[in-house]
Amino acid sequence: MENIVSLCKRRGFIFQSSEIYGGLNGFWDYGPLGAELKRCLKDFWWRRNVREREDMVGMDGAIIMNRAVWRASGHEETFSDPMVDCKTCKGRFRADQLDATPCRQKPSLTVAACPGEKTEPRAFNLMFKSYAGPIESDENLVYLRPETAQAIFVQFRNIYDTSRMKLPFGIAQIGKAFRNEINPRNYTFRSREFEQMEIEYFCRAEDGLRLTDEWLEHRLRFYEDIGIPRSKIRVHEIPESERAFYSKKTYDLEYEFPFGVSELEGIAYRTDYDLSRHIQHSGKPLEIFDEASRQKFVPHVVEPSAGVDRTVLALICEAYDEEEVPGEGGKTEMRTVLRFHPRMAPVKAAVFPLLKNKPELVAEARRLAANLRPHFSIAYDESGAIGRRYRRQDEAGTPFGITIDFDTLGENGPATKGTVTLRHRDSMTQERLPIKDVLPWLQQAVF
Ligand code: GAP
Repeated sequence: MENIVSLCKRRGFIFQSSEIYGGLNGFWDYGPLGAELKRCLKDFWWRRNVREREDMVGMDGAIIMNRAVWRASGHEETFSDPMVDCKTCKGRFRADQLDATPCRQKPSLTVAACPGEKTEPRAFNLMFKSYAGPIESDENLVYLRPETAQAIFVQFRNIYDTSRMKLPFGIAQIGKAFRNEINPRNYTFRSREFEQMEIEYFCRAEDGLRLTDEWLEHRLRFYEDIGIPRSKIRVHEIPESERAFYSKKTYDLEYEFPFGVSELEGIAYRTDYDLSRHIQHSGKPLEIFDEASRQKFVPHVVEPSAGVDRTVLALICEAYDEEEVPGEGGKTEMRTVLRFHPRMAPVKAAVFPLLKNKPELVAEARRLAANLRPHFSIAYDESGAIGRRYRRQDEAGTPFGITIDFDTLGENGPATKGTVTLRHRDSMTQERLPIKDVLPWLQQAVF
């Protein structure tokens, strides 16, 4: 994990938020490569779950909503962790983690073992508070949303009425969520600001259990399609005794991170709980009318809810590799390579002129890079030995390197004129490709 964190900083994937001021615990910034990686993930999730499906539509809700939403959802009352205060060090700790949390004054001891006097556990709500308007009154109190899902429930009726969707159908959303986690940890895994990719799939009661299993399969296939094999994901069915009382089935999808097996996504069959609560609290008719039985009913819902940041971290962990390769002068050297699925790679291809002091090579390489840029994220690099330039791209996870060389210019005869060297990141093998085929070749390789 240390090597991964160091690579992420060195290559500009992830930085500590506000780093020059000492950072802020639980907040992270994504640098150029991290931002591209995140975008590839979110775009592909949207494509698979919204654009490729007839039964799904998307939405983009506000982060701040009427406080009544969080009363209805139960978050205001129950979205909390039990906390204990230490009267000696004035620290506040999660009551269920006292055995695993180091004491602030004597880190060799756990909080449980430290002799400081502790309070009884008290509920600490995880929602960040703010005020909408200039007066900091109870009336103006608002929360930063702790999940994106509620915006979908409260807009269910509007979307149903305007989109002409019929059950079963889903509403998808990607967006920021905020939780004042007591103990942010494991790098970006548990943050205070993060992004979720959530689906609420509305259906009839009799279809809920079956659709939950179908979503499980669909979501496992998604992870495979971004380069996380099924063998690295554990499906944990939550037993009834640990499930929310309204849920009839819940799966956690867990990934084998270097720091342990931990949750990537939850798939919960939430019955009609959420819409019923909003009907109760808002007094608005969110039921739909069943033509066949001529009766109104509240749709049930299956919720696949995934974290962007956790999936990005899993993608980086899965891609990270170090291997011995032949180096200069017959010696071997270590190469660090991120073996991202081409679909997820932050930079899809790097274009290199073989030599930077040969203007025809530079001009041809720049022309190719400019032609590719409207279609993908492309790197252009002309400095240093070509081997070193390949290594730099290996570390960034760029799957393909395209070199403009003397063959391209036709200096070695007509047979190879107008062709480029295409170098594959994983195998380090090279082949020649006509320059006019580079764009369509890349398009199919990264789709
Ligand atoms: N609407 C359901 C819901 O929010 P959740 O299990 O609390 O369920 C869903 O969150 C997903 O959001 C998690 O599986 C995880 O990927 C991500 N997530 C939750 N809390 C997080 C945190 N503090 N940091 C990063 N990701 C988080």
